[in-house]
Amino acid sequence: MSENLRLQLEINGQPHTLLVDPRVTLLDALREHLTLTGTKKGCDQGQCGACTVHINGKRVLSCLTLAAQANGQSVTTIEGLAQPDGSLHPVQARFLEHDAFQCGYCTPGQIMSAVACIDEGHAGSADEIREYMSGNLCRCGAYPNIVDAIQQAAADLSKEAT
Ligand code: FES
Ligand code: FES
Repeated sequence: MSENLRLQLEINGQPHTLLVDPRVTLLDALREHLTLTGTKKGCDQGQCGACTVHINGKRVLSCLTLAAQANGQSVTTIEGLAQPDGSLHPVQARFLEHDAFQCGYCTPGQIMSAVACIDEGHAGSADEIREYMSGNLCRCGAYPNIVDAIQQAAADLSKEAT
């Protein structure tokens, strides 16, 4: 049996200390040790995108990332995206407005990927969005509405930036 590691992570702006087995993924650490269950486990094999979170603002698949790799880093999950006063991130607001989900299982991962996709400058057209969101699968086939929501959120954010 391996000895537990003591990790210090910032999660959604708050410092956390975790004692975990070195083999624990970031996904399981979030869901099972911190009860942050907004991040979903779909395939657990890097194929669906449901587990997408940000480390230092960059999107990662938390099922393929060891919790230990996030030691000392800043992690953002879907729970940390809205403002402290509860106002939604523009991507969240546009997903709601455009009905960009059905069962909602893929939605946290879609939204975390979409925020990163816009930040990366890859939301310039519907085709580009489809390409850079292709790692996020939706069994319900909500893709057209997801693309619309992201295009609109990208426009909102570029207006905010000017
Ligand atoms: S659960 Fe991580 S990619 Fe599917
Ligand atoms: S909304 Fe059901 S999997 Fe995407």
